[in-house]
Amino acid sequence: MQIIETVAGVKEQVAAWKAAGLTIGLVPTMGALHEGHESLMEAARAACDKVVVSVFVNPLQFGPDEDYDAYPRDIARDGAVCAAHGVDAVFHPTPEEMYGPAFNTYVVMEALTDALCGASRPGHFRGVCTVVTKLFNIVQPDFAFFGQKDAQQLAIIKRMVADLNMNLKVVGCPIVREEDGLAKSSRNAYLSPDERQAALVLSRAVRAGEAAVRAGERDAAAVKRQMSAIIEADPLARIDYVEVVDGATMQPVNTLGRSVLAALAVYIGSTRLIDNFIYEEGE
Ligand code: PAF
Repeated sequence: MQIIETVAGVKEQVAAWKAAGLTIGLVPTMGALHEGHESLMEAARAACDKVVVSVFVNPLQFGPDEDYDAYPRDIARDGAVCAAHGVDAVFHPTPEEMYGPAFNTYVVMEALTDALCGASRPGHFRGVCTVVTKLFNIVQPDFAFFGQKDAQQLAIIKRMVADLNMNLKVVGCPIVREEDGLAKSSRNAYLSPDERQAALVLSRAVRAGEAAVRAGERDAAAVKRQMSAIIEADPLARIDYVEVVDGATMQPVNTLGRSVLAALAVYIGSTRLIDNFIYEEGE
């Protein structure tokens, strides 16, 4: 397995694979790889001839008070995880390689980015859409794999690919959880033992909300209240948002319809974690 640091290096490798008629799967990541990422690699391995994992902590998607500097970086470990999952190449560029001094073009999406994480992290999805577009242009994948944990990100990337007629299929993969329910996240590494325990309020709230919707509750405010109460009961937890929105538009609704996304972001101490459930009638 190769670790490639330059755009030119990836393009050269990709051109050779394409010339040989091979399909390419891309797993975009910011490193600090965990079982959630590993499930994306496995899905890519099963669907594609060649698998590229990008490991790039993208400065453009972090706000000024966020954890860009502190974000865990360990390319030796990440490389070993990728190798163990049969990845063919890791793309690990520097920020300078991705954003040269003259860089001045951004991909901005409207509406879908207004709610949820977009509301509490202004500019975040501009950073995500820009870097993901660049990764798609560099790697030219046939398939790209993203986790459902970032449900809004997944919906936005699918929209962007459709809107801009990008030539690939976006595949969403299920949330991977710890045995006790906590969704796997690179940021779980920040949690102290007490915070780790407190973090279980996220998955508990998600389970309770999903049970209520499956039992027929259609009042979005009632579902939201039930989920919020579980989180508010823990003194280490502070709600950033709990939203129950239309699954297709990501806009708030009073009465839930056929497609529902319940998403939450919660600070456990100073660590911001997210979780969600998606309900599709008939599934
Ligand atoms: O989900 C992530 O880890 C990032 O937002 C992504 C898609 C790799 C873009 O930097």
